[in-house]
Amino acid sequence: MNFSSFFSNQARKPTGLFGRFIMSTIFEIGNTDLNSFVHELLSVQSDDQILELGFGTGKLINKMAQEINDGCIVGVDFSDTMVSIAQKKNRKHVDKGKVKLLGGNFDDLTFENEYFTKVYSVNTLYFWSNPAHTARKIANILKPKGKLVLAFEDIEQLQQRNLSNDVFHLYSNDTVHDLLRSTGFSGDISIKTKKRGDSIFHCAVAVK
Ligand SMILES: C[S@@+](CC[C@H](N)C(=O)[O-])C[C@H]1O[C@@H](n2cnc3c(N)ncnc32)[C@H](O)[C@@H]1O
Repeated sequence: MNFSSFFSNQARKPTGLFGRFIMSTIFEIGNTDLNSFVHELLSVQSDDQILELGFGTGKLINKMAQEINDGCIVGVDFSDTMVSIAQKKNRKHVDKGKVKLLGGNFDDLTFENEYFTKVYSVNTLYFWSNPAHTARKIANILKPKGKLVLAFEDIEQLQQRNLSNDVFHLYSNDTVHDLLRSTGFSGDISIKTKKRGDSIFHCAVAVK
């Protein structure tokens, strides 16, 4: 396996010491701006029931848990390495029952339909093996008028990186819009863009 392939696989599902120490640092530092953008767009309410698909180190869950009193946050991640890092970071909130962290593939887990007020996911879209299935499942578990915030990096920016095409599936803004429109998001769909230095990233905000 060459480095591009190794790194891309680690970005998709961090494992071992490389995942624990290198990828977690990259996620914590490299994804900070994108996670702040998502946080802003989520407009968290104290009684929200929120799900994060692919929480990585669990940093945003930890921040949002401090804004929630009557609601809860459920996180799902299929990397055991990330689950253990996020468990440690969120111990206090998990013990209080405000945060629940699940290990496993989102596609394979069962959730109550129309349970969540908001669902979000940051930098996981590229790895969805069946995007229509995953997007439809998100729509199903959202309450009517529930909101999805789906964050991803700009396609042209990602094309310049040495990423494996076998692992990373890149999306234009139009493709993301069409995916959500065709999978149960019948309310407003807007794609918000932010630039920070040389970085461009987008958040699709879609209402069920
Ligand atoms: C690139 S990292 C992003 C982590 C975090 N969202 C952030 O912004 O730093 C992708 C994360 O999503 C998880 N992941 C990807 N696809 C997943 C799936 N289908 N189900 C559960 N977790 C998934 C990976 O294990 C990894 O921790």
